Amino acid sequence: MIFSFFLLTFAISTSYSIFLDIKMAKRKLQRFADNLNDPYILDRNKPLFEQIKGRWNEAFFQNPYPITLELACGAGEYTVGLAQKFPERNFVGIDLKGDRLWKGARNAEALGLKNVAFLRIQIQHLTNFFAQNEVSEIWIVFPDPQPRAKKEKLRLTNPRFLELYKQVIQNQAFIKLKTDNTQLFEYTLEVLKEQKIEHWEGTNHLYESSFLGEHFGIQTKYEKMFMAKGLNIKYLKFKIC
Ligand SMILES: C[S@@+](CC[C@H](N)C(=O)[O-])C[C@H]1O[C@@H](n2cnc3c(N)ncnc32)[C@H](O)[C@@H]1O
Repeated sequence: MIFSFFLLTFAISTSYSIFLDIKMAKRKLQRFADNLNDPYILDRNKPLFEQIKGRWNEAFFQNPYPITLELACGAGEYTVGLAQKFPERNFVGIDLKGDRLWKGARNAEALGLKNVAFLRIQIQHLTNFFAQNEVSEIWIVFPDPQPRAKKEKLRLTNPRFLELYKQVIQNQAFIKLKTDNTQLFEYTLEVLKEQKIEHWEGTNHLYESSFLGEHFGIQTKYEKMFMAKGLNIKYLKFKIC
């Protein structure tokens, strides 16, 4: 009797989780289809995708304003939040997950923003999409910390990535990292030291620091999750050239 009860409970919960998986997969497919016609999203199936490098101002934004990137943007909370705050700057959120970019695009659309774009690429390919000096600021917001030594090369503050950023960012422009992860924060400080990058500032407790005002109250989905767990948010800003 007890065994049958457990069996029934197991069958119901398994069917329910399969039902949820299917629902989620369908929603993702719908979002990918929507992205094909979304004016905010640049993806490989759009004509501009192959020709955007060096032409963001003229071909996408149709204005001369400086361009900020948000890397690993997820749903692009910084892209949308900063775009609202700074109408005379342009913002490009970059991530490889199309369903998250869809969300960011919907938020930008709801606010009628004209200075927002989302680019679906692997950040490793950044230099195929931006020319030298085309970028005036980079935010890296709660990137995957990639704690395993084997995956060090995937950390977005690895020297390999810094080299890519150097190829697109203007002289004296800031790269800004926000993370909950102590290991990634310390790793980045170590990289800056090894690379002899002297111009940096930061804090391991953003919410108790004088840097908080630079964030304009913007919080991302992951930030809210980490804060609910009681984790300190760390912040670093540095110049690589
Ligand atoms: C932890 S989530 C953070 C999302 C968002 N910034 C936030 O704070 O809510 C990390 C994001 O980085 C993206 N990502 C990780 N590695 C990437 C890469 N090499 N190229 C593009 N996106 C990447 C993932 O798809 C994911 O959306």
